[in-house]
Amino acid sequence: MADEPLVLGIETSCDETGVGIVRGHTLLADAVASSVDEHARFGGVVPEVASRAHLEAMVPTIQRALKEAGVAASDLDGIAVTAGPGLAGALLVGVSAAKAYAYALGKPLYGVNHLASHICVDQLEHGPLPEPTMALLVSGGHSSLLLAPDITADVRPLGSTIDDAAGEAFDKIARVLNLGFPGGPVIDRIAREGDPAAIAFPRGLTGPRDAAYDFSFSGLKTAVARWIEAKRAAGEEVPIADVSASFQEAVVDVLTRKAVRACKDEGVEHLMIGGGVAANSRLRAMAERRCEDAGLTLRVPRPKLCTDNGAMVAALGAEMVARGRSASAWDLSADSSLPVTDPHVPDPDAHSHAHSHSHSHDHVHELSRKNLYA
Ligand code: KG4
Ligand code: ZN
Repeated sequence: MADEPLVLGIETSCDETGVGIVRGHTLLADAVASSVDEHARFGGVVPEVASRAHLEAMVPTIQRALKEAGVAASDLDGIAVTAGPGLAGALLVGVSAAKAYAYALGKPLYGVNHLASHICVDQLEHGPLPEPTMALLVSGGHSSLLLAPDITADVRPLGSTIDDAAGEAFDKIARVLNLGFPGGPVIDRIAREGDPAAIAFPRGLTGPRDAAYDFSFSGLKTAVARWIEAKRAAGEEVPIADVSASFQEAVVDVLTRKAVRACKDEGVEHLMIGGGVAANSRLRAMAERRCEDAGLTLRVPRPKLCTDNGAMVAALGAEMVARGRSASAWDLSADSSLPVTDPHVPDPDAHSHAHSHSHSHDHVHELSRKNLYA
């Protein structure tokens, strides 16, 4: 619809330079330039290399997105950018570019949260997010269960990893198995040839007295590494497919079990899964089955929208515009540890907007649990 906000989003929190353009909930362009090949030989993302790559890719990627969408920069209603969390130097390139374009074009600037963007992107695939939505956010840097009554203003963390993120565990195990970086996609592929029940690896934090919504993957990582070492020490061949499948099964089992439990406990009927690990085929299949058994509706974006991209930033930016959230100030800075509870970084001096914003925010908190989830 032509009256929906047309927003360009810029994502540079890690190694993907993403530029997306959306109109409301409609995806018009999703241009991504990745520097992943430059990091592969280091076995992980090198921040300085990522920042330089963003700098080189930024303008061409913006031009590619505008061309793909068939819109002129002057038609935009706003420019959104990931303000955090992420690598400080990498974020800075995106924030600086967004400011320059927004200022030069006379458009409002929206600094948004990378994690809320990973959730909001599903609007491009499955339409408006139900309110509230339960979100399982699983990426290279984060693993969290988030309750989102309003993705633009109210995101509540229920639990998160106490050590490694889920994607980090995939990357580390792939390294031990000499499968290259990033590890998630290759383990996903190899695991299809293996038996997920071949080896009983531990399920972290699933005891009766453990925190119900927190995750821990470092014990699993150590157990898998030890198992592989023992095989090698005995001069036996490591069954890579079985190890991959059994490791993946342990991660996916815990993630889906806890997510379904959180929905039941909170009386939420919709589970959304986002972030790079949501591209995992076994996670998608198990979540589908368990949600169906529990009577929950599952929403997972297509894999390309799960890994880092600019469309997710544009999607959240468009929602900010549609809901009249205040734009960011021109001195917006990149915040490498922006809390998940801040879906965007509003202008602190925007009094009129700030007032109506905090008013509606308080109002949501005043509602009883019963009303909110009815
Ligand atoms: O969301 P993302 O692109 O970047 C961050 O914000 O971290 O997530 C990247 C992570 C990496 O750890 C990668 O190994 C993992 O997502 N990943 C996967 C798959 N595709 C990407 N993990 C498991 N299975 C996959 N198919
Ligand atoms: Zn991400």
